[in-house]
Amino acid sequence: MKPVMLTTLREMKQARQKITCLTAYDYSFASLLDSAGLDLVMVGDSLGMTMQGHDSTLPVTLEQMEYHCACVARGVQRALVIGDLPFGSYQQGPAQACDSAARLMQAGAQVVKLEGGAPMVETVRFLVERGIPVCAHIGLTPQSVHQLGGYRVQGRDEPSARRLREDALHLEAAGAGLIVLEAIPAVLAREITQALSIPTIGIGAGKDTDGQVLVLQDMLGLYPRPSPKFSKNFMDGAGSLEVAIRNYAEAVRNGTFPGSEHSF
Ligand code: KIV
Repeated sequence: MKPVMLTTLREMKQARQKITCLTAYDYSFASLLDSAGLDLVMVGDSLGMTMQGHDSTLPVTLEQMEYHCACVARGVQRALVIGDLPFGSYQQGPAQACDSAARLMQAGAQVVKLEGGAPMVETVRFLVERGIPVCAHIGLTPQSVHQLGGYRVQGRDEPSARRLREDALHLEAAGAGLIVLEAIPAVLAREITQALSIPTIGIGAGKDTDGQVLVLQDMLGLYPRPSPKFSKNFMDGAGSLEVAIRNYAEAVRNGTFPGSEHSF
């Protein structure tokens, strides 16, 4: 059972093998995802909503992310653990981002994720040059919910689609190891995926990204508020958490998830 590394993900992209990812915030679920064969476990700051009951990810602190990264890392043997840099822990610039990233990595994250396009390119380069693997995140970036005017699909018109294409290329050139594309039209996600040599992980970005991620509580039907259109409840008819998670991974691998009803 070889541990998943960034090189593994690049090989999977080249071999057109879909990359599977779910979020987890604790030891038990992390173990379950790992033993179900998920390639990536993402300690997302979505925990602000799913675990803490906030309306957004903005209240999540770096200390809380360290705690959850440590819990998840103890449950994972094979999957690559990605930890989210929370709001306010990297926006001041590369030096702040480097301090925050070091804390998440000392807690057990193997890759750090940060949100944003062009303004984050310098920070990504700074981190990668110092040995910190980075997952970029563009499209709907939930930490910018107030700037974006809500949780809205991005890149629908040509100027914003062009900006996302350019952002993706610049983030790759700066050394990002992978990139999350959230809530963008499927056609745009396909173009970006084809233009990059690093893997793209989609959430609400159609079926043609190199991998897929969902928020665990959404795909298990555990979140008490409405889930986004791009999610699917895999607990329906599954009978157990393990079967639901395995069914998700299988649906991503064989291309039956996401369907057009989960895409824009
Ligand atoms: O916070 C999170 O869980 C995320 C993923 C859903 C992409 O950013």
